[in-house]
Amino acid sequence: MTAPRGRVEVMHGVNMDMLGRRDPSHYGTLTLSELERQIVGFARELGLDVKCFQTNSEAEYVEHLHALAGVTDGLLLNPGAWTHYSWAIHDALELTALPAVEVHLSDVDGREEWRRVSVVRDLCVAVVSGQGAEGYRAALVRLSEELGS
Ligand code: DQA
Repeated sequence: MTAPRGRVEVMHGVNMDMLGRRDPSHYGTLTLSELERQIVGFARELGLDVKCFQTNSEAEYVEHLHALAGVTDGLLLNPGAWTHYSWAIHDALELTALPAVEVHLSDVDGREEWRRVSVVRDLCVAVVSGQGAEGYRAALVRLSEELGS
């Protein structure tokens, strides 16, 4: 059964559909559909109802955020490289006024300087990075605490 306030939208950004072909030392070997299958499993264990979304279009990502009011209770965001510079996504996230957790497969703080910057971090209740697919479980646990579900 889905917990009350247990609807979670997982939003993968640019190049995340290329998982499985990206550098495995940073991103592991799972494809996006395999990762999403794991996320659905983690969510089920926590009684959360999860929906996954991915696009390579920043405009679509922003429009998806615009359409979330009343549709979901919380967000798990991995905007990929947009994390580091997209003020458009920052502003759209702010508009949703939903609790969000930022998640990255790789350890963004231990890589290039530019990856250490996140323009969405100030709007997120937590950041999980460098834990691979397991990081999505940790992010869902954190979000579920936030939702009181
Ligand atoms: C990423 C980290 C970003 O710096 C990178 O641009 C990605 C993936 C991650 O999950 O580790 O595309 O968000």
